[in-house]
Amino acid sequence: MAQLWGGRFTKETDRLVYNFNASISFDRKFYEEDIEGSIAHVVMLEKQGILTEGEKNEIVKGLTGIREDVKNGILEITEEYEDIHSFVEANLIQRIGEAGKKLHTGRSRNDQVALDMKLYTRAEVVHVAEETEELLRTLLTIMEENLETYMPGFTHLQKAQPVTLAHHMGAYFEMFKRDSLRLRDIYARMNYCPLGSGALAGTTYPLDRAYTASLLGFEGPTLNSMDSVADRDYLIEFLSALSTVMMHLSRFCEEIILWNSNEYRFVEIDDAYATGSSIMPQKKNPDIAELVRGKTGRVYGALVSLLTTMKGLPLAYNKDMQEDKELTFDAIDTVKGCLALFNGMLKTMKFRKDVMAASAVNGFTNATDAADYLVGKGMPFRDAHEVIGRLVLFCIEKNKGIDALSLEELKEISPVFEADLFEAVSLKACVEKRLTGGAPGPGAMKEAIRQNREFLNQSWLKERA
Ligand code: ARG
Repeated sequence: MAQLWGGRFTKETDRLVYNFNASISFDRKFYEEDIEGSIAHVVMLEKQGILTEGEKNEIVKGLTGIREDVKNGILEITEEYEDIHSFVEANLIQRIGEAGKKLHTGRSRNDQVALDMKLYTRAEVVHVAEETEELLRTLLTIMEENLETYMPGFTHLQKAQPVTLAHHMGAYFEMFKRDSLRLRDIYARMNYCPLGSGALAGTTYPLDRAYTASLLGFEGPTLNSMDSVADRDYLIEFLSALSTVMMHLSRFCEEIILWNSNEYRFVEIDDAYATGSSIMPQKKNPDIAELVRGKTGRVYGALVSLLTTMKGLPLAYNKDMQEDKELTFDAIDTVKGCLALFNGMLKTMKFRKDVMAASAVNGFTNATDAADYLVGKGMPFRDAHEVIGRLVLFCIEKNKGIDALSLEELKEISPVFEADLFEAVSLKACVEKRLTGGAPGPGAMKEAIRQNREFLNQSWLKERA
């Protein structure tokens, strides 16, 4: 048991207490961030005349050595240390002696851990956004290739009006685009450095917090030392954004599972992304889509868990906040994994364009267009709706589609129908007439694709690179 705080105690910590309290098993994940923060801290301490140049050089060299040795597997992070901060400091003192004991001057583990977690998450916000934009690129390619791939659009899971595959994928593009923008906003809002806030009330040393912040690539230092050590809003926002990404993925997965079923047959998942059954030889199951849908629950769980942990915590630091780590790490790893797998599945999926088009033809997806046709002939829309309602009922009785009726049959319903109806309610016409911005018509779709191509070319991630 290696602790940083023995002086005031007369007894050894109980073993179970030690284990319960320790965080090394998971905060070892940010050993590099911990060292990076410590290096910035001592560089600043020297600039401020708090450490000598010699001390600073020794400490930086020691810390860099620890980082290299851990990376190369020469130095193992073992559970005998309470947390990653203790591990690094103890190793530093072992390596360089007296100067190492000065590392923690003007710092507390409270502002240290706030910084480490922020550095770690800040990088992960970018990684998740990169994975999201990879998916956006796949979606845009499918959109460009499928401007005339017709399929039914649904409301209430009932066929509603014909759309195109480009349009359907375009809806998901918008969702994941918002996800990327949400991550950009979170990045900007969290990008302030808590280091130099001490345990809660700052320090008595003349730290240059703005300097440390700039060394670590932050916009600036945070403005209130109590808030700095007590704030986990940025994690809650990130978990909320991750939950939204998962909600989008899960909806998409649900559709793919339906589309891949024998009833729809709209898509075929590539063999590399499907699995079989141990008993039923004919089966090819969409397990990846189901697992992504299933893992959504655990990311939501992380969000609700942290919200609940933070609720009711008095200012400033409380040990409850140590609970922020495992769940955040798990949520980040889950979302990155899901995005990558989903993207691979989507890229290799085959769309059965003939089945989709055939499905769009039946189910009266052109009924609205038939009503619009009558409006074009001068009938008020509400009357046209009534006429087409009767026409659909007639078709259901005859077991025929609108376009399979004869002109005589049509005229029985309304004398306004002429032979030009058939062209007006064809699948192609139904889609092509939809011109409004955001609609599936080719003009509107091309404009959406152009703007979205531009979005990817101007990505906020490029500014950061
Ligand atoms: N392991 C702690 C955490 O994750 C680090 C901060 C500990 N600070 C303290 N005063 N015990 O929150």
